[in-house]
Formats: sequence, C-alpha cells, structure tokens
Amino acid sequence: MTGLRVGIIGYGYWGPNLTRNFFEIPSSDLIAIADLNEERLKQALLKYPQIHAKRDYQELFELDLDAVVIATPPATHYSIAKDCLEHNLNVLIEKPLTLKSEHAETLIKLADEKDLTLMVGHTFEYNSAVHALKGYIDSGELGQVYYLDAARLNLGLFQRDSNVLWDLAPHDISILLHLLGKPPISVSAQGSPCVIDGIHDVVYMNLEFPDNISAHIHVSWLDPCKVRRITVVGSKKMAIYNDIENDSKIKIYDKGVDVPAYTNGFGEFQCNYHSGDITIPNIHFTEPLRQECQHFLDSIVNHTEPRSSGRAGLEVVKVLEAAQHSLMNGQTKEIIQW
Ligand SMILES: NC(=O)c1ccc[n+]([C@@H]2O[C@H](COP(=O)([O-])OP(=O)(O)OC[C@H]3O[C@@H](n4cnc5c(N)ncnc54)[C@H](O)[C@@H]3O)[C@@H](O)[C@H]2O)c1
Repeated sequence: MTGLRVGIIGYGYWGPNLTRNFFEIPSSDLIAIADLNEERLKQALLKYPQIHAKRDYQELFELDLDAVVIATPPATHYSIAKDCLEHNLNVLIEKPLTLKSEHAETLIKLADEKDLTLMVGHTFEYNSAVHALKGYIDSGELGQVYYLDAARLNLGLFQRDSNVLWDLAPHDISILLHLLGKPPISVSAQGSPCVIDGIHDVVYMNLEFPDNISAHIHVSWLDPCKVRRITVVGSKKMAIYNDIENDSKIKIYDKGVDVPAYTNGFGEFQCNYHSGDITIPNIHFTEPLRQECQHFLDSIVNHTEPRSSGRAGLEVVKVLEAAQHSLMNGQTKEIIQW
C-alpha cells in the first residue's frame, strides 16, 4: 500500500472502468466505492472484496482518502464534487464537469483556494490517435485547416436525465478544443426529440472558431450504425480519425483542390484536383482511460494542472450551455463570452 488512497463514487455503467484502472495502477490504492444502489455495491464487492462499500458517499470522508472519482449522473456532479472539495479531497469528475458554467466556476475557485486538483474525464484528450491528429494539424502537414466534421452516432444508450447533446457532444467539443487549441467564437444547434418527449436524441451543432475555421458535430442515439469519426479538411491534405478502427484509426489523404487564377470566361474555369497516397500512421495505442487515471494521480503528486483541468471542463460546459440555448430557441447563433 504505497499509492494515493482513492474512492470511487458511482459504480453504474462507467464507474467499473474507472475502478479497474485505479485498482490496477501501482500509484493508487483503491480504498472504497460508494453507490446508492445496493445491487451495484454487491457487484463491486464480488470483484474487489477488500474495499469499503458504502451507500452514502459522505461515509468516504472518514476513510482518510486523498482523492475521489465521481462517476454519477451529470445532475449530481456539482453537489457531490463541492462536498468532496470542501472535505479536502482531490477530485476527478466524469464529463460533463457540471450542467451550469457558474457551478463549474465555483468548483474551480474552491479547488484553487484549497490547492486541490480538479480534473474532468475528457477521455479523448488522453487518446494517442487524437494526439497524432493534433500533431498533423500543428505541424502544418494538412495546410490551413478549413473545417472539421465530427460524428458520434449509435442506437442508444438513452439517458434518463440528459439529452444527446450533454451526453455525447462533450467528447467531440473537448476533442475540437484540444485539436485547435482555442475555443469557438459561436455555436448554433438544431435537433429533434424523436423517441422521448422533450429529450433531444439527435443534434447537429455548428461552431465557428477563430481564423475562419468552422466545425460541425452530429451526435445521435438514434442511428443504425455506430460511428465515431472526425474529419479534418485542410488546404494541403485531409485526415480522418475513425475511433472504431483497430489498426488504422488515422488516415491521411493527400487530396485537395487548387482553384485557378480568376478568369472571365466560364469555359476556362478548371479546378485542379489532386489525389495522392493515403497514409496510415502506426500509432502506439494504450488504453486512454488508463492514461487519464494515471495523469490524475500524477497531477496530484506533482502539483501540476491536469490537461483536462476544471478550466478545460468549464470551456466545454460553456459551449454546451450555448448550444442548448440555441437548440431551444430555433437554432439561434450564440456568441460565447470567454
Ligand atoms: N468518459 C466516457 O467515455 C464516459 C462513458 C460513459 C459515461 N460517462 C460519464 O460517467 C458518468 C456516469 O455515467 P453512467 O453511464 O455510468 O451512469 P449510470 O446511471 O450507469 O451510473 C451512475 C451510478 O451512480 C450511482 N449514483 C447516483 N447518485 C449517486 C449518489 N448521490 N451517490 C452515490 N452513487 C450515486 C447510481 O446508483 C449508478 O449506479 C456520467 O457523467 C457520464 O457522462 C463517461
């Protein structure tokens, strides 16, 4: 027992993945799991008989923990995280950080005041394919980025207390912010509540970034195919990140078009298309969630700001809030105040 003492709050669908990582990582000691549901606690005890299993997460405050990981439904994130920070615990919260930007700001302030680590589970920021894609953008290999297109589609999983925007788009927004290294200027969104009244299960977002870069995000719980794809179109090359693929998550297409100098005659107007090689880089892939969990522990020990810090979580919540406003108000264009 040499690692940081970690407790998990929420052992539903995603909590077990976090638990497994904190159990396996040598620099953490998995001490406790809290879940309101007795059945979930029984499941946890079958796998980890040595842990303290509690229904009330507040009982974790008596176990001399260093950190907690919150994997409960989004509506509970703020109150549980605030309570944990007030009890001097470092906190990793699953996405989205909170449902309101003012709540995210309160958590950031509290963590700063108490010198605690606050991190949000933007898992894709720990994904080697996303890093590789960022490398292609930053090195200029794709040329000037024109636009990005993200699609995250599947049949389900429908959530009880959030729509598809708040459930799936945090991933794509955090990826786009990470890839471009800057937040968007504006967002608009449209969508439909097809299956359950008032709960949008398909949403299309348009984002405008500085330097005339546009981005489009399509998220859906109502699609026949599982799609996890991001396309980046640049002036020199184009790239596709397909998270479903095993060995070819990134493909770089040497494709593009050059427009001729201005002419008056329509007949002389000929675009010059080029279509060269398709390159598949070899990416050393390790489980992103393992990287994320390790990064949380390292940030606490080294006293460094995590990559997906509370501030990064706040940026994503601000985009979601603006998109939700647009969704409810006829696809208005919302300028985001940073
Ligand atoms: N990073 C990812 O890829 C990823 C994937 C899935 C879910 N998530 C996130 O993980 C979080 C949990 O999602 P899920 O799908 O596991 O939800 P879930 O409903 O399956 O599980 C939530 C669990 O929290 C428990 N719970 C609720 N309130 C509690 C409380 N006050 N104290 C203790 N336990 C409580 C519930 O009993 C349940 O077992 C969400 O924020 C979701 O967005 C992230």
